[in-house]
Amino acid sequence: MSKRKPADKVHHLRELKRTAELGGGSARIDEQHRKGKLTARERLEVLLDRNSFEEVDKLVEHRSHDFGLDKQKYPGDGVVTGSGRIDGRLVFAFSQDFTVFGGSLSEAHAEKICKIMDMALKVGSPIIGLNDSGGARIQEGVVSLGGYAEIFLRNTLASGVIPQISAVMGPCAGGAVYSPAITDFTFMVKDTSYMFVTGPNVVKTVTHEDVSFEDLGGAVTHATKSGVAHFACENEVDCLQSIRRLVGYLPPNNIDPPPSSRTEDDPERRESKLDSIVPENPSKPYDMKEVIGLVVDNADFFEVHTLYAPNIIVGFARLGGRSIGIVANQPSVLAGVLDIDSSVKGARFVRFCDAFNIPLIVFEDVPGFLPGTDQEWRGIIRQGAKLLYAFCEATVPKITVITRKGYGGAYDVMNSKHIRGDFNYAWPTAEIAVMGPEGAVEIIFKREIAKSRNKAKALAQKVEDYRKKFANPYIAAARGYLDDIIEPSETRPKLAHALQILSNKVDRNPRKKHGNIPL
Ligand code: HXC
Repeated sequence: MSKRKPADKVHHLRELKRTAELGGGSARIDEQHRKGKLTARERLEVLLDRNSFEEVDKLVEHRSHDFGLDKQKYPGDGVVTGSGRIDGRLVFAFSQDFTVFGGSLSEAHAEKICKIMDMALKVGSPIIGLNDSGGARIQEGVVSLGGYAEIFLRNTLASGVIPQISAVMGPCAGGAVYSPAITDFTFMVKDTSYMFVTGPNVVKTVTHEDVSFEDLGGAVTHATKSGVAHFACENEVDCLQSIRRLVGYLPPNNIDPPPSSRTEDDPERRESKLDSIVPENPSKPYDMKEVIGLVVDNADFFEVHTLYAPNIIVGFARLGGRSIGIVANQPSVLAGVLDIDSSVKGARFVRFCDAFNIPLIVFEDVPGFLPGTDQEWRGIIRQGAKLLYAFCEATVPKITVITRKGYGGAYDVMNSKHIRGDFNYAWPTAEIAVMGPEGAVEIIFKREIAKSRNKAKALAQKVEDYRKKFANPYIAAARGYLDDIIEPSETRPKLAHALQILSNKVDRNPRKKHGNIPL
């Protein structure tokens, strides 16, 4: 090589890079396209701003000699790594190339991922992993397992320091699933991606269940049943564009502030529709997403975990141009009750926002925790405690609007004043009490009602009395548990002012190694 002329050397370099860019070759690229999938490089093109990708380690090769691998070398070794921009903001990314040994993870492949993760952590920018891999490179054995462990360690150490986003765009099986699981958000693509610890064949052998790849670990399964995926995307382009959108709400790290942009939507905008959104009948549902849409900038709400535990709503929006995280009970699903899945979903989102200094806005209409043996035996006590713990420990600006019900322990949990809610507002339609009127009256007036001649009438009268006395926000306001009772139509300006007031908020928790959230 050293005897080549400089021009030849450049030519040689270009050839090498061209070879790297072809990955496993055009036949395998065609096969990838035939499956409805993009290649690793095409994905990065959609993910990142035009011409912003700065690749590293394009010429890395594996060092394995067994099973004839020494005769099969592909520069890059099955993963494309580097940095780029999303709307001008720096991110780091790796993209596994299924056309090279099925995207399987060799020692060298793992080192490339670790190098880019280390750099993302040092620089303080998000890391995005596009996964499409047959798992550990079988020919390399334990060396490959070690590579996975190195990635898991970095995922854990980077947690809460830089945002970590995973997209699963093909197979992701065995231990490999635990990297996306530790990251903050997991995207999957319908029909072309799957995640499972053991595949359908092993499942059949062990439990005798017949299940397809899609049913066991496809995007919809994980977005609805297990909650492993936060997003089930229609196709790869939809997936990559959704990641771009998500990044737009996030700060680059846990020190820099979240992005803020100018908005044409006047923060002082009053929304008269809100005044009549809560039905007169307190047991009638309404759609909390409509409330959110009417309050946030340009009705633009980026919902997370849409399909999982829809009795709670979580997601990002902007108010007055500032990024906010929204947690809201959804009265139109299971009356907005808190159960195991919704508590865990809410808790994880609250902790993400707190870790990355994104203010939290809570819309509350919660009748309590879901009763039943299923919930009790599966641990609603410790699972519900997660949401409570998450709100208690959060030190970001925390604002609550109680639109209707705030009953029982759930009132405490949903960012009440008592657990450091900064501004707590209620609409005049709010009902704040230990329990709903019917339940309360049946307990405290049990004997009296039993003695009365017309039991139904007596019960109705007591319920009415109770409702008048307790099912309103005024007792809480008199105690200062609410900072104000506001007209629903003024919710947006009130929240915008509160965010402005809290923009320099500093609050701390006692020094500790880390807390012990009830897992
Ligand atoms: C080496 C692999 C590979 C692997 C696929 N290939 N997986 N090479 N190690 N893990 C190669 C194939 O040999 C093939 O090479 C090419 O990639 C494409 O694979 P196909 O099987 O032809 O593709 P497809 O039919 O789409 O099936 C994809 C697949 C299947 C479902 C992922 O390849 C598969 O089951 N692979 C093994 C999965 C697995 O058991 N991995 C280990 C999991 S345990 P050629 O040259 O023929 O085209 C694990 C532990 C992680 O990962 C530990 C972390 C703690």
